[in-house]
Amino acid sequence: MITYNEKQRTFKLDTPNTSYVIGIVDEEGFIGHAYYGRRLEDADVSYLMRTDEPPFVPSRNNRERCSFYDCFPFEYPTGGVGDYRESCISIRTKGGHTGAMLSYVSHEIFDGKPKLEGLPATFGDEGECTTLRLVCEDAIVGMRVELLYTAFNDTDVITRSVRVTNTGKEHFYLTKVYSACLDMDNQDFDMVTLHGSWARERCIQRKTLGFGIQNVSSFRGESSHQDHPFLALVSKNANQESGEIYAMNFVYSGNFRAQAEVSQFDYVRMSMGIHPENFCWKLESGESFQSPEVVMVYTDKGFDAMTSSFHRLYRKHLIRGEYKDRKRPILINNWEATYFNFDTDKLLPIAREASKLGIEMLVMDDGWFGKRSSDDCSLGDWKVNEDKIKGGLKHLVDEVNKLGMKFGIWFEPEMISPDSDLYRAHPDWAIAIPNRTATQSRQQYVLDLSRNEVADYVYEAVASVLRSANIEYVKWDMNRQLSDIGSFGLPADRQGELYHRYVLAVYGLQERLTSEFPHLLLENCSGGGARFDAGMLYYSPQIWCSDDTDAIERLKIQEGTALIYPLSTMGAHISDCPNHAIGRNTPFETRGIVALAGTFGYELDVTKIPQEDREMIPQQVAMYHKFNDLVREGDYYRIASYSQNKSFDCWQIVSGDKAKSLVTFVQVLNRPNFKSRRILLKGLDPDKRYTVSFENNKDIEEKVYSGDTLMKAGILMPNPWGDFKAWLIYLEA
Ligand code: GLA
Repeated sequence: MITYNEKQRTFKLDTPNTSYVIGIVDEEGFIGHAYYGRRLEDADVSYLMRTDEPPFVPSRNNRERCSFYDCFPFEYPTGGVGDYRESCISIRTKGGHTGAMLSYVSHEIFDGKPKLEGLPATFGDEGECTTLRLVCEDAIVGMRVELLYTAFNDTDVITRSVRVTNTGKEHFYLTKVYSACLDMDNQDFDMVTLHGSWARERCIQRKTLGFGIQNVSSFRGESSHQDHPFLALVSKNANQESGEIYAMNFVYSGNFRAQAEVSQFDYVRMSMGIHPENFCWKLESGESFQSPEVVMVYTDKGFDAMTSSFHRLYRKHLIRGEYKDRKRPILINNWEATYFNFDTDKLLPIAREASKLGIEMLVMDDGWFGKRSSDDCSLGDWKVNEDKIKGGLKHLVDEVNKLGMKFGIWFEPEMISPDSDLYRAHPDWAIAIPNRTATQSRQQYVLDLSRNEVADYVYEAVASVLRSANIEYVKWDMNRQLSDIGSFGLPADRQGELYHRYVLAVYGLQERLTSEFPHLLLENCSGGGARFDAGMLYYSPQIWCSDDTDAIERLKIQEGTALIYPLSTMGAHISDCPNHAIGRNTPFETRGIVALAGTFGYELDVTKIPQEDREMIPQQVAMYHKFNDLVREGDYYRIASYSQNKSFDCWQIVSGDKAKSLVTFVQVLNRPNFKSRRILLKGLDPDKRYTVSFENNKDIEEKVYSGDTLMKAGILMPNPWGDFKAWLIYLEA
């Protein structure tokens, strides 16, 4: 999968359908990028680095070294000595100097993939992937940089990360360290990113790539609602089924920058890594810094193929734990049912009614601890409020268990309320700048998890609650972004490490939690979906997608999320109407059909909803059980996008053996006086014959068609009567 051609000094990394070629150039050992694209038979494409054209390599023309640096396609560009495009790594020496240049030293190719210390990362055994470790150095700074590449055998993915070691005698500061870079020709690309806000996460945005720098980023301390650590450069003709795509996604949950810079020569430098804003990491002699990982996907077969590579990788090589390949319990969460206004007497009737309807787990959300009855206090005081939870937590959990249901609980472990016993005892545990009143958000501060004593307190607070009763699920929330970056535990020249240390500490906490409680189902959350990223997926197999549970808003949010992440990871619930985020009324049935594309659950007071809605729940539960294996494991295809056509949405899931398929069609606003819509299906076996049944309308006659017909001629989708109506269509060979 990875080969080195000693004569040409090229490395060729192959995945099933792609190749990536790196060249070592000149006696100085510049490491250049030659090729990334469709799989090549021959590795001799080093001519693509254009070293035979002026400005020549320095060994042939040292007068134009600067021009050479400024156009050579570097694998991992440094700054300060002549490449004026944005670099991937910046340093500041003890003497205050900044320039660096890397030259090849050695390499190693081996089966499998090493772990990244302290960080989430994709994994694969020998036989599943091959790794190249390319070692280079700047001997003047005393800096060794190891570029790590892994090529997977079962999906078209190459992952990259970087490890920087101080090999000199003096310390230096890393002021920027990206994880991956692609220097290539601009092929008149468009740029695709995911943008959003609270309740509007991960909406797809596509625009023309122009000259200069274009980026998306976060320095909010988390991957964020606003921008997403994902960037794709796509050919103008790229659509769902065809066209070229170069995509990068970051396995990281903190600050990031994803950037494309089109240079004067119409080359593009695509890069991704930790955002350099407020980043400064001190490396003492002998110390190393490990960057997080970037996942790269190339395809010439459009967005469906890109999505399939990401889904395959994340399902098989990122998500861990007992629930990795298992159906999750159908939960009912009391947040939108009660908000803070609940006690045992309110929760138990909800659980009782829910259990009768087939719901499998009660999740107690925010408000069970300290003296919390609104969002203005008690974060950090993780002691059960026995005025609300009468008889204690164990009693409540036991009562819920007696109903045959599991019990889950909400925490927001990273936070501290100014009005809390914890803050009164340890005001210096909050992230803040000395002498400046830290900015509150939702009336809370962020705990300085870079301090071990703070992280240990948080861990024990959560773990002791979990040890006290049979709790089988945790929703780990994070409801504000970081500001006032200052730690009372770090010296002056390490304050720039706080953002990253914070993220490492969150990872450390979740690693400890899932190790001590291996049977726990962990769901991450951040004010909805502000930390829905590949980093968190390493610890929790599912993440709450958005606080907006309106079925129509969810079409856009789930489309953007599913562009990269498997459906099995998307927290999706049916909630009450009018919807609490937007005030819209949609049919209960449609809410169920849309939530089926995610983890599936309820977020309402089941004792209070209309009788006809309640009566529908057992059918929805049955559909979940019937289809969840397919939804979790099947291949996902996007057929139509409501955010593009402003009219209807349609997606399809096909089982690996192509024997089963589920099609979801949602008509947003109905159209008067129109006939049915023709929909072309995808991914079926042309030679198989499929029974097509409308699961939510048995009056529509079942028909049998060949896969060939369904994909070429399509099926007719009857116009539903009314707005916001959906069809769920099941195909079985
Ligand atoms: C966040 C979550 C919600 C809920 C509240 C509780 O907003 O996204 O689901 O848990 O916090 O405060």
